[in-house]
Amino acid sequence: MSHDRQAIVPRWAKPLVVVVAVSFAAFSVHRYAFGLESHAWLFGLVFPGYGGEQVPLLATMPVSELLHRVGGSLLIVAGLAQFSPTLRRRHPALHRWTGRVYVPLALLAAVTAIVLGVSLPYGGVGETIPAVLFGVALIVVTLLGLARARARQFERHREWMVRSFALCLGPASIRLLAPIFVYGLGMPERLAMVPSFWAGFVVNLALAEVWISARRRRNIRTTGFHESPSPP
Ligand code: HEM
Repeated sequence: MSHDRQAIVPRWAKPLVVVVAVSFAAFSVHRYAFGLESHAWLFGLVFPGYGGEQVPLLATMPVSELLHRVGGSLLIVAGLAQFSPTLRRRHPALHRWTGRVYVPLALLAAVTAIVLGVSLPYGGVGETIPAVLFGVALIVVTLLGLARARARQFERHREWMVRSFALCLGPASIRLLAPIFVYGLGMPERLAMVPSFWAGFVVNLALAEVWISARRRRNIRTTGFHESPSPP
């Protein structure tokens, strides 16, 4: 039997995801270290409207904002740790422990995302709809991932967790894609928030599905089975 374990993602993709994810998480919480004004100023360098109007407005819901920013940032760190092959292979107990932290953090980020998306959407109702939709999606796919792990269907568990992490990284992709709509297409910032929101999540979910299909094909090619017989 061939043991063809060729990489599914290009070598450069993993470090790129780590750098984008860690930078986004750090920027999300930087306001608690350097203050609201610094956060608004930094945001304003690229999105003056968001930095000047929305950043101070979010501070009027400090509890939801804190839970969303800190919970979301820890969630990203826990997710990166979960997908580290070294951690999974060498420290399986730590992998399970991080997984136990990941699930409540995902639920917290999703619930507070829904609260913020309903209460203070910068892009209006056009933003509330995808915020609620993808917030609920994060809850559902994360719980499905947990259920598959409990059922010891580890390949299925991994697939749902890839979808879950793709959703967690949606907001980072939104920030990367928004300049296309604002500067490339000349849309006002508030309006641009709507297509940016959809694009950030849909692009990430599409990439997750491409990765999942490629992995399924590789599993069948190398083992003849779809489902991995061993823990992730
Ligand atoms: C499905 C997942 C998520 C959804 C649907 C979501 C949705 C939202 C919404 C609706 C807002 C208010 C946006 C506005 O100002 O109009 C927001 C703000 C924010 N979210 Fe999320 N969020 C999600 C996950 C995350 C994660 C994982 C992080 C990681 C740190 C995060 C970080 C932030 C930050 C930092 C803000 C405040 C705006 C900023 O300073 O960038 N979100 N989110």
